[in-house]
Amino acid sequence: MSNRIIAVINQKGGTGKTTLALNLSAGLALRSSTHLVDADPQRSITQWVGMGGGNSGLPGVAQLGGNPAGVLSKLSRKHRYVVVDCPPTVQGDAIVAILRVAHLALIPVLPSPIDLWASVDMAVAVNEARQYNPDLRACLVLNQLEARNALSRDMREAVAEFDVPVLVAGMQRRAAYRSAAVEGQSVYGMGKRGQQAVADIEAIIEEVLCL
Ligand SMILES: Nc1ncnc2c1ncn2[C@@H]1O[C@H](COP(=O)(O)OP(=O)(O)OP(=O)(O)O)[C@@H](O)[C@H]1O
Ligand SMILES: [Mg+2]
Repeated sequence: MSNRIIAVINQKGGTGKTTLALNLSAGLALRSSTHLVDADPQRSITQWVGMGGGNSGLPGVAQLGGNPAGVLSKLSRKHRYVVVDCPPTVQGDAIVAILRVAHLALIPVLPSPIDLWASVDMAVAVNEARQYNPDLRACLVLNQLEARNALSRDMREAVAEFDVPVLVAGMQRRAAYRSAAVEGQSVYGMGKRGQQAVADIEAIIEEVLCL
């Protein structure tokens, strides 16, 4: 597979963009050269990686700056994978620029129809970006799944009607994701405590690499 720029994006706040971007980048970095890009003015991912004090084995983080397309294409020439943590918006020049150069948009959503509907503008933004970037792929990633509960019927119906396909793999709700953020590392750095979360992320990566 060629270089891949993966934008983790959803206009809805708190759906797990930063959690997915960070852990995805850690798993990809075990496979090939990977870099993170912090496109969120909240700077969550920069703070997260900074807390690890450079010993966390996490990829480097670049800021998006005033020339998003330039930053992303430069990084994608140097690294096989570039993972972009986006702010909770679909508006603004930076988002437009990211979606125009990305190969894949991953859209984490919480498993409730209301949350999914709140992300409907994402499907519109992806379709608009395809006018300039026809090869852009997009997938929903279910987050905060409850281990024992299958998706509700309402949610399955809502997902089926959504314009963007959903990955089979998703992230369960697990304390390890929260602990990793506090400890400034990824779930891969947590040993046994992170094992199940690593299995979630590995399944997502394997699915994404086959797209
Ligand atoms: N699968 C999960 N299990 C448990 N906690 C999770 C999970 N995913 C995310 N969280 C927690 O939910 C909160 C929101 O996650 P996160 O910051 O990744 O969302 P976000 O979409 O980046 O938010 P924002 O829109 O503000 O950028 C965080 O406290 C995070 O630790
Ligand atoms: Mg975030």
